[in-house]
Amino acid sequence: MTDSPLSIAVMVSGHGRGSNLGALIEGVQSGELNAKIVLVIGTRADAPALLRAQEAGIHTTVVSPRKYEGDAQGYGDTLLRLLTKYEVELICLAGFMLRLPPHVVETYRNRIMNIHPALLPEFGGQGMFGGNVHTAVLESGAKQSGCTVHFVDENYDTGPVILQHIVPILEGDTPQTLAARVLTEEHCAYVEAVTLFAERRIQVEEESVRILPPTEINSGELL
Ligand code: GRF
Repeated sequence: MTDSPLSIAVMVSGHGRGSNLGALIEGVQSGELNAKIVLVIGTRADAPALLRAQEAGIHTTVVSPRKYEGDAQGYGDTLLRLLTKYEVELICLAGFMLRLPPHVVETYRNRIMNIHPALLPEFGGQGMFGGNVHTAVLESGAKQSGCTVHFVDENYDTGPVILQHIVPILEGDTPQTLAARVLTEEHCAYVEAVTLFAERRIQVEEESVRILPPTEINSGELL
């Protein structure tokens, strides 16, 4: 296990409110997470998440995918230049709704995490975000929901699952009440997953994740 803090970039999109970013910031500030958020990348300057980062003294930048429409290579190159400049070791998507260019995914294979507000592989995929997810969960008659932290691959919500937190679905739930219950769990789950990564306890073998107990930690490269 390394003592030097893990360098993280957080990516948000649209008007991202930034509550998961806030949870990661608090995890770092409380000392629970041996990490430093070195950069927050947004897609628009007026996102509340960017303001939140700035208030915490974190560098922010805007890379607008619109500017690169039809040019995934150029968009990805710009992201990779930034990620290299800030020596980013782990990218955390937190309300980032777009697919990353394939060469970014390849360069950061198993080093990009996302949090999804349902229990994947159910209720994921394109268009499954925000209220759509919770509406679909309630309409399915499921008895429980939750959140999933997973590594990002080339598709929406399909990469290796790191961990899940489950919440019950209660009588009379609406998409809003369920979303609020899930969101509380998201904040714990994301800090937990990033902590495991910082402790080098996440191993990916043939697309599935193994969490190493603390005793199996060694100083070698696990990913
Ligand atoms: C969360 O529900 C997360 O699961 C999803 O986007 C939302 C972001 O919320 N990927 P916030 O901006 O972190 O509050």
